[in-house]
Amino acid sequence: MSAFTVALDGPAASGKGTIARAVAERFGFAHLDTGLLYRAVGARHLAGEEPIAAARALVAEDLERDDLRSSDVAQAASIVAVIPEVRAALVDFQVAFARRAGGAVLDGRDIGTVICPEAEVKLFVTASDVVRAERRYLELIAKGEDVTRESVLEDVRARDARDAARDAAPMVAAADAVTLDTTEMSIEDAVQAALAEVRAARG
Ligand code: C5P
Repeated sequence: MSAFTVALDGPAASGKGTIARAVAERFGFAHLDTGLLYRAVGARHLAGEEPIAAARALVAEDLERDDLRSSDVAQAASIVAVIPEVRAALVDFQVAFARRAGGAVLDGRDIGTVICPEAEVKLFVTASDVVRAERRYLELIAKGEDVTRESVLEDVRARDARDAARDAAPMVAAADAVTLDTTEMSIEDAVQAALAEVRAARG
């Protein structure tokens, strides 16, 4: 099969990661969580490295660190993601991944707008910030992180604001993206809606 790209963009904890994994599994596509790239750069920055150098030196093992899902690393990721040279260092890998043979699903903030504007399917997955913060809070608590509902909501809002306001590849729905608001949807229903979009585009 030739290239077929599913671009899943949206804010933190909107459900796009779960949807991306389900689409990849159902259609046999490769999956790239592009947030992990920025998180890996953020983690190296927290460890003292200059962000642009860290982005240029990123290696596969950086994506396997077990602290990448922490809230500190999430904030650091959104701080380094503002820097155009950091983003530029990560573009080629993502573009090649998006157009690999056999199909690919990428989730992030700028997949449908910058990385793969020609994607066959573009979804912008969103939900209210309170609902997203609650989902993230439950995930972090389950992993044993010491967080409160208030602190997670504050983190989500800070990250949303930074991601939407930056000049370089801001988080925005592509003009031709289908918006999926999961505020009042179960994750199963959101997955089914996304699968239907992909099926329709595959013809
Ligand atoms: O998706 P996730 O929450 O793991 O992303 C962490 C951070 O990485 C985001 O808040 C955002 O600043 C940045 N990011 C980005 N572009 C992407 C994916 C993530 O700027 N394509």
